[in-house]
Amino acid sequence: MALINENYLKLQAGYLFPEIGRRVREFEAANPGKKVIRMGIGDVTQPLVPEVIKAFHEGVDDMASAESFKGYGPEQGYDFLRDAIALNDYKSRGVDISADDIFVSDGSKCDTGNIQEVFGAANKIAICDPVYPVYADTTVMSGKTGTIQSNGYFEGIIYMPCNEANGFIPELPTERPDLIFLCFPNNPTGTVASKEELTKWVEYARANKCIILYDAAYEAFIVDDSIPHSIFEIEGAKEVALEFRSFSKTAGFTGTRCAFTVIPKELKAYDSHGVAHPVKPLWNRRHTTKFNGVSYPVQKAAAAIYTEEGKKQVKEVINYYLENARIMRESLTATGFAVFGGVNAPYVWVKTPNNMKSWDFFDKLLFEANVVGTPGSGFGPSGEGYFRFSAFADRDNVLEAMERIQNLK
Ligand code: MLT
Repeated sequence: MALINENYLKLQAGYLFPEIGRRVREFEAANPGKKVIRMGIGDVTQPLVPEVIKAFHEGVDDMASAESFKGYGPEQGYDFLRDAIALNDYKSRGVDISADDIFVSDGSKCDTGNIQEVFGAANKIAICDPVYPVYADTTVMSGKTGTIQSNGYFEGIIYMPCNEANGFIPELPTERPDLIFLCFPNNPTGTVASKEELTKWVEYARANKCIILYDAAYEAFIVDDSIPHSIFEIEGAKEVALEFRSFSKTAGFTGTRCAFTVIPKELKAYDSHGVAHPVKPLWNRRHTTKFNGVSYPVQKAAAAIYTEEGKKQVKEVINYYLENARIMRESLTATGFAVFGGVNAPYVWVKTPNNMKSWDFFDKLLFEANVVGTPGSGFGPSGEGYFRFSAFADRDNVLEAMERIQNLK
């Protein structure tokens, strides 16, 4: 008799974004001709920049001749990309990360989920609430929790509520976790963490033998020079943190797929006898067993964001989305919403009007303004009464959506 992984039965609903997609498709089928503006899932809308496209084409052309053809590449990524990452994302900010500690992959969503596998099921995980749903869902799938409770929390997860009172920045947990997911700039609230804030977490992790799983997928949107782009900008972080980064939002690779995870050789976790083991060889073992690397043309395309021209072009696209976020913040504030985030981040987090439930507001926006956002409660119980707008949209659509929202009754 084949047995299922019963942990999957603990998950209450389908994954958030396909559920939103289903509701929008249903609305469109019932209302043909209505123009729906999508500001729900954070999916980029601007094309890959010319420098990236040029390198992508070169990568494809290399595959057309026997001399430059590539078969299986190194699972961890080609040196040309890992070296460019180490130099441009880390050394340029005074952070010494070795190219050898960088694992190129097909996405941070996959990596943030897959990382669970190299840590034992007995680990206690701390996550923010609200939070990118992948952290919680994959914690459940990997058997580290009990069932969901009436307050919407899974038994066994340590939740760190993020609300207006704490500025959407988590407080140190009162119960000691083993693994801590942090994401800054934050998805969904768009808040950022200062150097002091991150130092507090690194010190806590060092004192309590925890590991921080740091998701920096949105670091490219940081414009304030004082805000760290990487957890490794904090002294002592290499011994207690690993970091997820992505080309998706940084350079428009949501459809092209390229990301990377940094696991410093200094990072250690323990076996059941209390013996310390480096985490990197475990991830390397997993990666080389279950993954055959990102395709060569895609890695060529990704490396192009680090040329002088590539950096300029990618920055222009980031600024375009940040300007969208500014327009959205100002317009939504003028309409009377309490607005958060959207300054060093592509997400604008608003309080729903008259304490409406998040999904009710989703329906109202969809049915009355034909605008799609993401209900805050989809990110966790503390997201109830909030709503997320993504700035990854065309400018004309942003302006039109804001006008439609202003005209809502
Ligand atoms: C989001 O909208 O939260 C993101 O696009 C999801 C993701 O990056 O997987």
